Amino acid sequence: MSDNTASQPRAEANDVVLTGDRPTGALHLGHYVGSLRSRLALQGQCAQTLLIADLQALTDSSGRAAHVAQHVPEVALDYLAVGIDPAQTTIAVQSRLSALAELTVLYLNLVTVARLERNPTVKAEVELRGFERDIPAGFLCYPVSQAADITGFRATLVPVGDDQLPMIEQTNEIVRRVNRLADASILPECRALLSNTPRLPGVDGRKASKSLGNAIPLTASPDDIRRLVQAMYTDPGHLRASDPGRVEGNVVFAYLDAFDPDATTVEELKEHYRRGGLGDVPLKRRLEAVLEALIAPIRARRAELERDRAYVMDVLRAGSERADVVTKSVLRDVRGAFALDT
Ligand code: TRP
Repeated sequence: MSDNTASQPRAEANDVVLTGDRPTGALHLGHYVGSLRSRLALQGQCAQTLLIADLQALTDSSGRAAHVAQHVPEVALDYLAVGIDPAQTTIAVQSRLSALAELTVLYLNLVTVARLERNPTVKAEVELRGFERDIPAGFLCYPVSQAADITGFRATLVPVGDDQLPMIEQTNEIVRRVNRLADASILPECRALLSNTPRLPGVDGRKASKSLGNAIPLTASPDDIRRLVQAMYTDPGHLRASDPGRVEGNVVFAYLDAFDPDATTVEELKEHYRRGGLGDVPLKRRLEAVLEALIAPIRARRAELERDRAYVMDVLRAGSERADVVTKSVLRDVRGAFALDT
């Protein structure tokens, strides 16, 4: 199966699921609709591993190594707080899995620099970070390390945002090259599991980003929620409640579409808004209530877990030990493909 688009969004019981997050900051609602929600749905259905990708974070943040290290348990706390259950989902730390580093070194021989420079996600990130010609080599090569993450677990399904599709494509190119070298199908190809909710904008309508402070953290306080919802971009032409308003590009509706469990009412509200006669204030009140209902249990569970850091560290240790065994067995096969250990 080489189709890696949304046309095969369903998980099969024998799928192996792997995803990761860079530990550079608190997870936010964009992560929730983009992939956390799918991971929760997959839990218990298939084997699943979540990788806290600290090595990948270092590829553009080597000057902030302590910050990255601090965020490893923070991301684990976010996972546990949303309901990831370590008895069903393995949570592992990338840097503790030496097999992934070795797989990366082997795969680097199967990829050209030109191909890496063409990766559209890397290109966009290079621009965003203003690297110009000073691209850290590790950063240019992180898609290869991500291929190691995915294949290191023989993953077949990767729940990610659409910005990660080029990574899946590059992973499958590497898989095919390894299998050709081995003259056997030692690694499976993988496909992306895209969220069916469109990408969530930041409260100002721009791309949600930690540095812009326009994302709503998973652990936002009621005050944060109020402040961020108040700041949401709606329709600048909708001055009076009686004016007809635009729904497209309206951030409040983007969030209601993503989170309001009552889709029928949201459709009615859209009609009303378009027609005129519905102000921003009642809409924002509704969204505040919807977000508070979603976030309140996450916030409470996180506060509880924060009092038991030793438990979180144990989860990471046990998960990484389990993942170490799996990735080492994959490495043995891949070393064989390169005629090592013969
Ligand atoms: N690149 C991903 C991101 O920035 C994080 C990541 C690292 C990942 N390793 C992965 C995602 C493996 C999927 C599979 O969000």
